[in-house]
Amino acid sequence: MSRKGIDPKIVEVLEWTCRFWQDAGIYHVPVAGKRGKQPDEDFRRKSKELSDLEAELKDCTRCRLCEGRTNLVFGDGNPAAELVFVGEGPGHDEDMQGKPFVGQAGRLLTKMIRAIGLDRSQVYICNVVKCRPPNNRTPQADEIAACSPFMFRQLEIINPKVICLLGACAASTVLRSSKSISAIRGKTLKWRGINVVPTYHPAYLLRNPRAKSKAWEDFKLLYSLLKAPN
Ligand code: URA
Repeated sequence: MSRKGIDPKIVEVLEWTCRFWQDAGIYHVPVAGKRGKQPDEDFRRKSKELSDLEAELKDCTRCRLCEGRTNLVFGDGNPAAELVFVGEGPGHDEDMQGKPFVGQAGRLLTKMIRAIGLDRSQVYICNVVKCRPPNNRTPQADEIAACSPFMFRQLEIINPKVICLLGACAASTVLRSSKSISAIRGKTLKWRGINVVPTYHPAYLLRNPRAKSKAWEDFKLLYSLLKAPN
């Protein structure tokens, strides 16, 4: 035995096989993914479709929110994520940086994501509206109508296993429901066959820390849905 305990005969066969493929000009052997598709191919396709969609929004003037924006906040994270978070709309920090959930509420969201063993780079985060409403007011119906088709396209492209809706605006837009967030949080609902869990918005949790235990229950539900077999 050599090379960390591997039988030298196997090493020799592998070296010869690699040399054979390289001589034939083949340097990359694709491995089929779970659904028979190459994971790289899936990632590249989703990534491209999301960039094309983002390009469609460049210089957007579809609603009045464009007037006060510094940056449009399209979305951020893994295009092939199994878990997508949808918030309401960018705040001051997000508007400055062009990324969702990077302010105080974002730091709490990042902690909650870590608490279920994930990193922000593994999930995807976006908002119902992509430009900051003045003084962080709730987006108005016509602004949601103009912008939400882009959020729905993001969900369609990523096609995650689970969607988490952060707060009333995301919940009412995606589920087309007028029920309060307290009435629907922590339930497993569906959007086009995908599991959806509404929960409190992190900004609400900052103002009402006692609600954090309920949000924690909701995140445990997210975790169990992610781990469940397909
Ligand atoms: N609140 C949101 O709903 N979205 C953000 O991106 C930041 C704060």
